[in-house]
Amino acid sequence: MILPGSASQSLSASLAAELDAPLATVETDRFADGEFKVRVPDAGGDRAVVVAATVSARAHVELLQLQDLAREAFDEVVTVLPYMGYARQDRAFREGEPVSARAVARAVGSGTDRVLTVNPHEPGVCEFFDVPAEPLDAAPRLADPLPDLSDPLFLAPDEGAIELAASVRDAYGAGDTDYFEKTRDYDTGEVSVEPSDAAAAGRDVVLVDDIIATGSTMASAIEQLHASGPASVHVTCVHPMLADNARSKLANAGVDSLHGTDTVERPVSSVSVAPVVADALE
Ligand code: R5P
Repeated sequence: MILPGSASQSLSASLAAELDAPLATVETDRFADGEFKVRVPDAGGDRAVVVAATVSARAHVELLQLQDLAREAFDEVVTVLPYMGYARQDRAFREGEPVSARAVARAVGSGTDRVLTVNPHEPGVCEFFDVPAEPLDAAPRLADPLPDLSDPLFLAPDEGAIELAASVRDAYGAGDTDYFEKTRDYDTGEVSVEPSDAAAAGRDVVLVDDIIATGSTMASAIEQLHASGPASVHVTCVHPMLADNARSKLANAGVDSLHGTDTVERPVSSVSVAPVVADALE
């Protein structure tokens, strides 16, 4: 049975269809003090697959509750974190800080037999779980919604995303890859990128990243890119978090299309990672 977190209902429905598995209807009671409690009236069976993008503090608590009821009602519990919140805090950046990704992994790992997570920022976060945890790669799926491209160039906004850009290029079947040099001022949050060496003039360019959060990285890359006169600019990412005004920043920077997957369910989530998750579960 698939047990969906409230932020992962579309993905859970697609996964249930892929696996031909029942999809639970999760009920939620809310209390006056702001606390809540989930309920799955017909819970029971061999395997529960809890699918929950931990996009908020509420989503984290909901996941723990779903795992807890699943532990009691099923023989096995698998947890799918389509998007793992706090995964980017994967080390203590200053003395006296927690490793938030480890803290989350310890809590989530205690309620499950196995974890699957899609394109974590660093696959190494899987080592923080006390149960087997596996990173899944959905990047090749990002080639699906791209239009026909002329002499395409797949660009990463920083060096860390070059493999993702290469994955999308390989799945698309043609094109070059390159990356920008990025620096971020951690006091102001401002991002600046240096142009790549690759000639973008007159070409269809696809910018690829693992996540678009505030949109600062991508907006900065788009602005740089326009200076070299590309024919078109397409933006794609695995996790379209698009916090606050990120969507407007990208629109104002000038994009011809924007796509992401349903690891974070947004209007631009035109690609489902359900087939990738289903493969790992079969
Ligand atoms: C950083 O290395 C990541 O790959 C992303 O580029 C970054 O997290 C995106 O964040 P934002 O949208 O806030 O610039």
